[in-house]
Amino acid sequence: MSKQAKYKVLAAQFICAMNDGEYPQDQPLPSLRQLSALHQVSMTTALACYRYLESLGYIRADPKRGFFPCSEHTPVPLTEHAQFDAQISTLPKSPPRRLRSGFATAQLDANLIDTQQLRASLNRTMRGNLSMFNYGDPLGEPTLRRALSEHLQMQGFMLQEQALIITQGCLDAVKTALEITTKEQDVIAVPSPCYTGLLDTLSAMGRQVLEVPSNHNGIDLVQLENAMAGQKIAACLISANFQNPTGHSLSTQQKQSLAWMAKQYQIPVIEDDVYRELSHTGTTPLPVKHFDEDGWVIWCSSISKTLAPGFRLGWCAPGRFHQTYSDLIRVRSLGCNRPLQLALADYINRGHYARYLKKLNQALALQCNRYIQILAQLLPANIRLSRPQGGLVLWFELPQVDTQQLQAQLRDEQIYILCGDAFSTTDLYHNYVRLNFGQCLSSEIESQLVRFTQLAIQIRCQKSVKDETKTGTKPA
Ligand SMILES: Cc1ncc(COP(=O)(O)O)c(C=O)c1O
Repeated sequence: MSKQAKYKVLAAQFICAMNDGEYPQDQPLPSLRQLSALHQVSMTTALACYRYLESLGYIRADPKRGFFPCSEHTPVPLTEHAQFDAQISTLPKSPPRRLRSGFATAQLDANLIDTQQLRASLNRTMRGNLSMFNYGDPLGEPTLRRALSEHLQMQGFMLQEQALIITQGCLDAVKTALEITTKEQDVIAVPSPCYTGLLDTLSAMGRQVLEVPSNHNGIDLVQLENAMAGQKIAACLISANFQNPTGHSLSTQQKQSLAWMAKQYQIPVIEDDVYRELSHTGTTPLPVKHFDEDGWVIWCSSISKTLAPGFRLGWCAPGRFHQTYSDLIRVRSLGCNRPLQLALADYINRGHYARYLKKLNQALALQCNRYIQILAQLLPANIRLSRPQGGLVLWFELPQVDTQQLQAQLRDEQIYILCGDAFSTTDLYHNYVRLNFGQCLSSEIESQLVRFTQLAIQIRCQKSVKDETKTGTKPA
């Protein structure tokens, strides 16, 4: 990935602050002189930053009064969420979903990946010690576990290397956690809506789910605690940072409460934290695991969303379940691909991973906002869109649009999205869509977005004509 110019870094910070409402529409932004003093940049950089934001449509210049935020591109934020009483349901046994690329899979554009340094690490590794061609430690290469532990320490998250076990991605780590802590027919609490891959895994494993509603921070902890206190669930499966699909994150206090609840009710919390390091605001949040004193939190993550899903490398810190987890890993497989583990360790140890994440997140912050802007311009004004501060996906409501129909029609044109129904056992999200914004914007991607919105509007119009024919009313 190329080095980001200073003005773009500054612009990304501005966009996040504007989204947080720090700059009211009618108030001028800091003057160029103030901006340059505030961020210790030259006047040229300050002006380049404002010109760049202007070209993206975020701000406008008033020749006499300075620069102002633009109002016309602000979509309605998705702040209200379906409220209901959590209920146990059996998941349908459906054939495995095909992994579709494009807008349907939360995945980075290859152009954003630091392939140059990653290839260099792979090449160095392949020229290294011949022992890597033999079997290794089934729990993972010690060098990689150490590198990860040191990398996490830099974020203020202390985890000993011995606490970590290397897995084949995050989903594999989660599946093993479910296998050792629960059995068939057990009920697992999940947030509503929930990432389809987790629902599919639970279905394949014959587990039932308790879908717990969300509020603006994520899973409703009051309802979750009731379920825990009543011993209605065998485990809880959550993402506390930039949840897929809503983008929600629990506050620090909520993370502390959840860790406390796991200990209090002695119910394992399986934490899928695969998006934590994709924070667009410059600070990496801590996981629930950080607040876990008694080992009831099983922390799972991977490099699939941040770096290279094709490596199939992830990890787990199983806490008090370490022995059982290790035993299962030992009998089930003889470990993960050694050269890839060593190459990843090399990449992390040379500081490339930390540097890359910084640049990547700045690029993603801009990309996310550009997608929001484009969609807000193309879709009717009352569309409610999520405003994720991290991660790779947008979640939004298209009132009156049958999104299964939309998904099917788009598929015929090789445009892939995921409809809301895939994220729940309820029909509450029938009018919702999840969109990956990890693809860099190009004329092709923009025309796919245009086509997506055209079809959505068409389906909505057809529906209102049908409704009017049924009720005999005429459009106003
Ligand atoms: C919440 C969540 N967990 C896990 C995964 C899959 O991770 P991995 O590829 O590391 O198994 C995804 C992929 O979309 C995801 O969104």
